[in-house]
Amino acid sequence: MTSKLATHFTGLEFVNPFVLASAPPTESKAKILKAFDAGWGGVVTKTIGLHPVENVAGPKTIYQRASETKPYVSRYKRPDTVSHSSWNWELISDQPLDLWLPDLEEIKTTYPDRMLIASIMAGAGSEEEMENWRKLARACVNAGCDAIELNMSCPHMDRKDMGAHIANDEEIITTILNAVTEAVSVPIWVKLTPSGSSLVDGAGAAYAAGAASISICNTFPSLPLMDPETLKFEVEVDGLVTSGGLGGLAILHQALQRVSDVSRAFPNESISGIGGIKGFREAFNFIVHGAGNLQVCTAAMEEKGSGGVGVNLIRELTGDLADYLQDKGYSSIEDFRGIARDRVVEHARIRRKSEAYNGGYAKSA
Ligand SMILES: Cc1cc2nc3c(=O)[nH]c(=O)nc-3n(C[C@H](O)[C@H](O)[C@H](O)COP(=O)(O)O)c2cc1C
Repeated sequence: MTSKLATHFTGLEFVNPFVLASAPPTESKAKILKAFDAGWGGVVTKTIGLHPVENVAGPKTIYQRASETKPYVSRYKRPDTVSHSSWNWELISDQPLDLWLPDLEEIKTTYPDRMLIASIMAGAGSEEEMENWRKLARACVNAGCDAIELNMSCPHMDRKDMGAHIANDEEIITTILNAVTEAVSVPIWVKLTPSGSSLVDGAGAAYAAGAASISICNTFPSLPLMDPETLKFEVEVDGLVTSGGLGGLAILHQALQRVSDVSRAFPNESISGIGGIKGFREAFNFIVHGAGNLQVCTAAMEEKGSGGVGVNLIRELTGDLADYLQDKGYSSIEDFRGIARDRVVEHARIRRKSEAYNGGYAKSA
């Protein structure tokens, strides 16, 4: 009997809809095997590329907490604090492709029923870069990956032809998708940046060029905080910072709005929702706005004592989803997916105290 948690998403069968997002929890074979052992339905690998990667000479990620008694946000440990966000300036995987390939093969052979999605990234603007996308995609699919996620969302790339820089250019999105869909026949997910005003257009271009799903959100471009006493940024190298990415609970509402925008524009297309999922309530909110798959990063990384892959978290997520389906008499997440879609409307459609309001325009006589 198929479990109620099973989902059919972009042509793939997931034992449950919960997937570890491309990030440190999926940076190595050991972590991915541990994650599958714990029960995750799939993983998106840490992004694999062909260009040189050298991380900053200091911490790559910090976890920020908010105080209950005096609500300020800081990475520094204080009693009575709750998780607020992660901030990172980590680059993509520094493990080269040829070392990833045997690992991917072993992972897929060990866990054939779990979905292994390879996140890949190359540049734009030349045939050489298109060939890099093709090479990465072909190699990962030949190693057994079930799908490919194209990283067009990393918020801290110096190269202007990579990551979030290219997600606002529909022509580039189309060209890259043409290259990758020509090279492999597995589902292609496209992870777009949530920053910028053209997300819906970018998603439209990706779907039109053959993307099976859009993954939103990557982290939001942001700066770390400066301590008023020490005048140091909470993370810096030689007194300097640069724009990094905010993740975790702090981005939940913004991520939901992005998912809703894309879902309302393309109600028949697939979305993998990411951003601030810490438990069932957040996952539920992505599903009601249309997401058919859920990715998690910060909450898994933050979990203590389980090697940063969310061993307890996946137990809670699957247990709470199963209880919810049972309580409501639903047979799968499809029974409530997208139910919020039609209830998100233009501001002018919200009832006013009086009839006088005309969407901000004067009423014609
Ligand atoms: C330390 C760190 C590294 C990340 N590296 C990648 C990456 O290599 N590729 C990618 O597509 N997203 C990367 N992300 C973004 C996450 O996959 C995810 O989109 C983001 O953290 C939002 O999810 P969350 O709120 O659950 O953390 C990274 C996030 C963090 C915190």
